[in-house]
Formats: sequence, C-alpha cells, structure tokens
Amino acid sequence: MKIAIRSENEADHLAVEVLTREAFWNLYRPGCDEHYTTHLIRGHEDFLPDLTFVAEVDGEIVGSIVYTRSWVIDELDERVETATFGPLCVHPAWQRRGVGSALIGHSWALAAEKGYPGIIILGDPHNYCKHGFKTGKDLGVCTLDGKYPLGLLVLELRQGFFASSRRWKFQTSEVYEFDAAQVEVYDARFPPKEKKHQYSQELFAMLVRAVVE
Ligand SMILES: CC(C)(COP(=O)(O)OP(=O)(O)OC[C@H]1O[C@@H](n2cnc3c(N)ncnc32)[C@H](O)[C@@H]1OP(=O)(O)O)[C@@H](O)C(=O)NCCC(=O)NCCS
Repeated sequence: MKIAIRSENEADHLAVEVLTREAFWNLYRPGCDEHYTTHLIRGHEDFLPDLTFVAEVDGEIVGSIVYTRSWVIDELDERVETATFGPLCVHPAWQRRGVGSALIGHSWALAAEKGYPGIIILGDPHNYCKHGFKTGKDLGVCTLDGKYPLGLLVLELRQGFFASSRRWKFQTSEVYEFDAAQVEVYDARFPPKEKKHQYSQELFAMLVRAVVE
C-alpha cells in the first residue's frame, strides 16, 4: 500500500471534514466536534497551512493532520512559538496501516526544518509515545493553570530546548474554544448520523481528568 502525503488544498476541505467526522463520530462524546474545529482552524490567524497535510491511497483522501500555532511561556514571560496538531485522523476503514504514523512523521520533519522547538499536543499518550512524545511533566511544560494533564505531550524538536531548567506554560490557540451550539448548526450541513454512547467516551472522560504527579 502506497501512502502519499501532500498539502491540503481548498478543494479537499469538504472531503477532509467528512473524513474527520467519520473518524471521530461517537469516539470521545456522542457525535463529535472535530470537523467543525477543522473548519474553524482554516479561517483562523493561528492556522499553519504549511504543516497541514492529507494522506492519500490510490488518489483517495484517507487521513488528515491540521496544525495551529501555539506557544510556551517561561517564568520571565518569554514567549516562544510552538506547533500543535489536532485534529489528526484516519478514516476508520484505513486505520492501523501506518497512515497516521506517516502523517505525524512527515509533518514532524517539516516542523523541525522550520525551526520549531517542539510540537505540543493534548492527546491520548497511547497514540503518541511511540513517536517520541514525552509527558509535559518530564520536560517542564504545564498548562496555563500550572497542571500536568496526562494528555499534555511534548515532542522536542530542538535538542535540549525543553531539557533545560526552564519551566514553561503551554498556551493553545483560542480557535479550540467554541460554543457547543455552533457545532450543532454546522453539523446540520452533513448527512444525519446517530449519536450514541460508547465506552471509549468513558475512557476519554478519565483521560482528560488524569494528571501526572
Ligand atoms: C489515532 C489515529 C490517527 C492513528 O492512525 P492510524 O493510521 O491508525 O495509525 P498507525 O496505523 O500509524 O498506527 C496505529 C497502530 O497500528 C499499528 N500498525 C501500523 N501499521 C500496521 C500494519 N501494517 N499492520 C498492523 N498494524 C499496524 C501501529 O503499530 C499502531 O499500533 P498501536 O496502536 O498498538 O501502537 C487513528 O486511529 C484515528 O483517526 N483515530 C480516531 C481519531 C483520533 O482519535 N485521533 C487522535 C486524537 S488524540
């Protein structure tokens, strides 16, 4: 199977949102909001289009990774730009065949070339430790309110940047903050899909409350 990674362009927008909706539907909550997040990101000043890619197999889009600008801020208020991805997704029919890894690896290499000191995400460690992500706790990166959530993960791109004695607070783009009611309105553009409960939602609820000591 040949996986081709290329930049996302405007003609891909709908296909990527449909794919994103399929990949996230009922996974973390009944329904999902990630297709709306992708839509919002593209029109936001923190969008990083140069790091945003689709994965294709035989000309069909099967995966997507979308990046935004983020920041780490130290005790002296020095602010350094970092890169954050999310949503990242692969169509359920194409998962576990290396597509997600190809998207991460491709964008990771480019982010390093562009000089970002690191990629910082909020995600499930299961998906990212194998790609070299470490807990924020071990690299001195916490949330703005000083917490170390289990899902706060850092991939150091500039060697030694996070290993110093400096402590950083991580700030994501405001694009990820939106009203749930807006999601409902946006979702009405897509074919109806049944919202239901899945045990993965319980796991997610635990993950977002878990912190690293
Ligand atoms: C998370 C996600 C992006 C991963 O994409 P993916 O294409 O399935 O990822 P990969 O195939 O590279 O790796 C997934 C697993 O398949 C395994 N794998 C990769 N290629 C394989 C192959 N050819 N044969 C068998 N297994 C393979 C990997 O080792 C990995 O195993 P692990 O989960 O035990 O570590 C995808 O599952 C997804 O879209 N999930 C829903 C949305 C989501 O949760 N996004 C992330 C939010 S944190």
